[in-house]
Amino acid sequence: MTFSEKRYDSMPYNRIGQSGLKLSAISLGMWHNFGAADDFENQRKLLHTSFDLGITHFDLADNYGGGMAEVNVGKIVKTDFAGYRDELIISTKAGHPMWDGPYGDGGSRKHMLSGLDQSLKRLQLDYVDIYYSHRPDSETPLEETVNALATAVRQGKALYVGISNYNPSDTRRVVELLREAGTPCLIHQMCYNMFDRNAEESGLFETLENTGLGAITFSPLAQGLLSGRYLDGIPVDSRAATDGSCLDAERITEELIAKTQALGAVAQGRGQSLAQMALCWNLRQKSVASVLIGASRPQQIAENVAALEKLGFSAEELQCIEDILSQP
Ligand SMILES: NC(=O)c1ccc[n+]([C@@H]2O[C@H](COP(=O)([O-])OP(=O)(O)OC[C@H]3O[C@@H](n4cnc5c(N)ncnc54)[C@H](OP(=O)(O)O)[C@@H]3O)[C@@H](O)[C@H]2O)c1
Repeated sequence: MTFSEKRYDSMPYNRIGQSGLKLSAISLGMWHNFGAADDFENQRKLLHTSFDLGITHFDLADNYGGGMAEVNVGKIVKTDFAGYRDELIISTKAGHPMWDGPYGDGGSRKHMLSGLDQSLKRLQLDYVDIYYSHRPDSETPLEETVNALATAVRQGKALYVGISNYNPSDTRRVVELLREAGTPCLIHQMCYNMFDRNAEESGLFETLENTGLGAITFSPLAQGLLSGRYLDGIPVDSRAATDGSCLDAERITEELIAKTQALGAVAQGRGQSLAQMALCWNLRQKSVASVLIGASRPQQIAENVAALEKLGFSAEELQCIEDILSQP
């Protein structure tokens, strides 16, 4: 298998916080489209297209596709990416329900370290680059989860660690605890897009800037709502049609369509699609090193990477976006 020779030319690589590691400005996640029922050849094309366009970071979790996303990506990396492991950042996470009994869920040391062993087996890898606590677990002391992450690094099974979906005060505590454990926290993974601004409003971005932590934002397109995907109804192959538990079709109201049309007009004025503008809008945040997209087809990845040709915003464009978003 060969890859295009120019794959690193058109992609910015941003430093994560104060660490030594850089991520491609766009990363690809495997929450959807990498399960047992999804076309394996399409999965292969998604990974190839990404890598050819300079995306070096693939984001997984133990529970994506009930474990099958790790199995499928593991197979493709082993065959097609043999010899390229050192050019890839592969992440996984634990913390959501995975197996039966009292140890199959949460942030305990037992769950986090057994979960990582299971992920490595599915991925057919010796180590992951970033291992995350997928969510805070109010029943487990933060110290225990954090020490399990530090152990994963000491065992050589993860190079870096991160957290996902933690609030600002827990984030500050994790940063302190991991510093004491000698394994700095690398990154925070959180939801952020024009329709979900909790990371701004809760003070999370400010916390990250103050603690030197980098951010990677997931669902930057609000699972496809911030694209042209739903302008003419709900396509049968879209996430809203195929996975209503994640993207409830009832969210696609006339008001939402009107907003996306108005945002689309701003994007058009910039010479971009709405999806492209939504990604650039995410990357304007100082701590955001990478936006973590999903894709059901290679063309979406190509369109999204092309967004990076016009990153900046004028003050007028930003105001226009705010005005549209503040409408009821
Ligand atoms: N840490 C966490 O708790 C957490 C939670 C959620 C997600 N994540 C991570 O974030 C990743 C991305 O999340 P996401 O899939 O919700 O991200 P997203 O980029 O907001 O949504 C992806 C979906 O948008 C549509 N899309 C993408 N590009 C498009 C384009 N150019 N034009 C039209 N439609 C386009 C596709 O929908 P269709 O499938 O309908 O074509 C695609 O599946 C996940 O895979 C996962 O790695 C993490």
